[in-house]
Amino acid sequence: MNTKTVTITDDTTGKSFKCPVREAVHGHPVIDCQALPKELGMFTFDPAFMTTASCESKITFIDGDKGILLHGGYPIDQLAEKSSFLEVFHLLFYGELPSAEQLISLKTSMNSHSMLHEGLRSVYNGFRRDAHPMAMLVGIVGALSAYYHDSMDINNKRHRELCALRLIAKMPTIAANCYRYTKGLPYVYPRNDLSYVENFIYMMFSAPTEEYKFNKTAVHALETMLILHADHEQNASTSTVRLAGSSQANPFACIAAGIATLWGPAHGGANEAVIRMLQEIQDVKNIPDYIARVKDKNNPTRLMGFGHRVYKNFDPRAKIINQVCHELLHELNAEHAPLFEIAMELERIALEDEYFIERKLYPNVDFYSGIILSALGIPLNMFTAMFALARTAGWISQWNEMMEEGNVKIGRPRQLYVGAAMRDYVDLGKR
Ligand code: CMC
Repeated sequence: MNTKTVTITDDTTGKSFKCPVREAVHGHPVIDCQALPKELGMFTFDPAFMTTASCESKITFIDGDKGILLHGGYPIDQLAEKSSFLEVFHLLFYGELPSAEQLISLKTSMNSHSMLHEGLRSVYNGFRRDAHPMAMLVGIVGALSAYYHDSMDINNKRHRELCALRLIAKMPTIAANCYRYTKGLPYVYPRNDLSYVENFIYMMFSAPTEEYKFNKTAVHALETMLILHADHEQNASTSTVRLAGSSQANPFACIAAGIATLWGPAHGGANEAVIRMLQEIQDVKNIPDYIARVKDKNNPTRLMGFGHRVYKNFDPRAKIINQVCHELLHELNAEHAPLFEIAMELERIALEDEYFIERKLYPNVDFYSGIILSALGIPLNMFTAMFALARTAGWISQWNEMMEEGNVKIGRPRQLYVGAAMRDYVDLGKR
């Protein structure tokens, strides 16, 4: 039995409380201070949850200093190299990689749930043609709540699984339809003979008038990108999904809340910012000036797609996606497209420049995912939607893990009140 404790003493009253310490399988132990208010009459203060573990989880582990990312214990590089996005979803949701039969059964489920209720067409039609795909995604995923009343009992394990399978199966169709709606293109129905990733590409880019030819390297690049973005522990959008779920809200509403959180530029928008930066630089000859701006203390410009809050050594996802990105550009003969030439030159300079080396600023996953998505012809305003498509696997798995624990307490942070002290109402004429 673990008997490690940390004692917190109120220096004014001299009263102490021994907080139990809980060990993690990997990573920092945590101080369990749930009893603090009862014992010492105090709360902890931790804006942005910089030091607060909000839950127990078996799904993902990150060691930012060592550049480690594990899902269900498996290193991300092994998953990216050997598995598919659906296998990773199975691992996140069920806790284990699927057997061959389980994988077939998962694909069968994807096939039976990949189409959308025709009623959703009128929901799409309600959006302006120039609506941002993320606005549509929040709306359409939230609207799914209105279609599955008979199977949304969140305390029923089978219902939760069915909601998860429906969501994962429908996300490519929903996202592709968002794109096609804004373009005025006819929706394309999914095809059961295609893989999960092929289906998305097919629904995005095919025309009903001709046969669609897949590029294997492009399919592989997108599959890798989805695997690398599938889950990342208790980030802002995942914590939002858990918080919404703690109120017993239905899973579609919870995922819609996660999508809304991801939309913010501080979270899901970095890959888009990378391309906007490359467009701003315009030409390789402008790079030295740009780098000088980035290094100037008085200039707020940053090299987008470089650095990471958690990974201070390297981003393990970037290592993998870097190679895939180079393969894709080579395959598409796009290495000499101006935008990608700028990207490759920026990468080279930054990796050799003392400013970046000293500060451990390596290219992060979004530097390369932005380039990959752009090379695949995915429009800039769909980039965050692509991230959402991948992260739905993590969101729904984290939500399910929380619901499975049972007796979920509603999330309710406390505050440090710094407003006016209690006072008496002043009549209108006397103010
Ligand atoms: N370009 C230039 N300088 C930088 C950059 C950058 N991208 N990132 C950090 N620095 C400098 C910063 O100016 C500071 O220098 P000094 O010590 O001289 O003051 C030093 O490096 C440390 O910076 P910091 O702001 O303390 O680092 P942070 O951990 O708070 O920020 C970050 C992490 C990701 C917000 C930041 O690196 C950044 O803004 N990067 C660009 C945006 C980006 O690519 N974001 C995507 C992250 S990956 C998304 C995901 O995992 O989902």
